Amino acid sequence: MSNLVVAMTGASGSAYALRLLEVLVASGRTVHLTISPAAVEVLKQELSLTVDLNNFDPQQLLPTEEQIAHDSKLKMLQPSGDVGYAASSIFSESEVMTGKIVYHHYRNFSSGIASGSFLTEGMVICPCSMGTLASVANGQSQNLIHRAADVHLKERRKLVVVPRETPLSVIALDNMKRLAEAGATILPAMPGFYHAPQTIHDLIDFIVARICDQLGVKNELMKRWGSKPQA
Ligand SMILES: Cc1cc2nc3c(=O)[nH]c(=O)nc-3n(C[C@H](O)[C@H](O)[C@H](O)COP(=O)(O)O)c2cc1C
Repeated sequence: MSNLVVAMTGASGSAYALRLLEVLVASGRTVHLTISPAAVEVLKQELSLTVDLNNFDPQQLLPTEEQIAHDSKLKMLQPSGDVGYAASSIFSESEVMTGKIVYHHYRNFSSGIASGSFLTEGMVICPCSMGTLASVANGQSQNLIHRAADVHLKERRKLVVVPRETPLSVIALDNMKRLAEAGATILPAMPGFYHAPQTIHDLIDFIVARICDQLGVKNELMKRWGSKPQA
């Protein structure tokens, strides 16, 4: 079994999700991907990507070289190329983005991931909006993302939630506490700076590395604290 569920929702930070997808697929996992309509808006706003939820193709998550060349937001996300420990770029024309991503429309409750009998290694909601956080914390399975998260909780499987909001209301804090008590891992998109990041890509990799650690996906995306300095 090597199924992982990844849900993208409408919080800022869609670049985290794209990098996560790349790393998980490269690890040999089959990624079951579902995307909320609000995530589509954020992808457009932050990365100039146009995603069609009704006619989805993983290629829609890969900007062309021309787009990268003309979009400063995309350029900033490229690895510096000399950081020594970064893997490939989020935005490489990478074969890994095809083939091992199984897409599920966010309204398709007949999808396998809506059922506990469909075996997975876990699920990540990245980035996770306060709206989705609230729905999952309160058991409101109004779309496939909420339902799949609910399934992971009831089956006592790994559920990693990557919220992005600041400051946090008492309601959001309560929802996080509730989810943590129900067994989820709350992993805020809150990168550290102790690995001497050189680029935005390094900050993204910090969060993706911590998500992968939670899922048991081996990675060397960042210099770990206590590891030997590079020669
Ligand atoms: C560009 C953009 C950025 C947003 N950033 C955040 C955010 O960082 N955190 C958050 O909780 N909501 C954010 N929102 C609002 C959510 O997208 C909105 O609450 C939406 O209803 C969430 O729906 P979903 O949980 O189904 O994806 C953002 C919206 C847009 C358009």
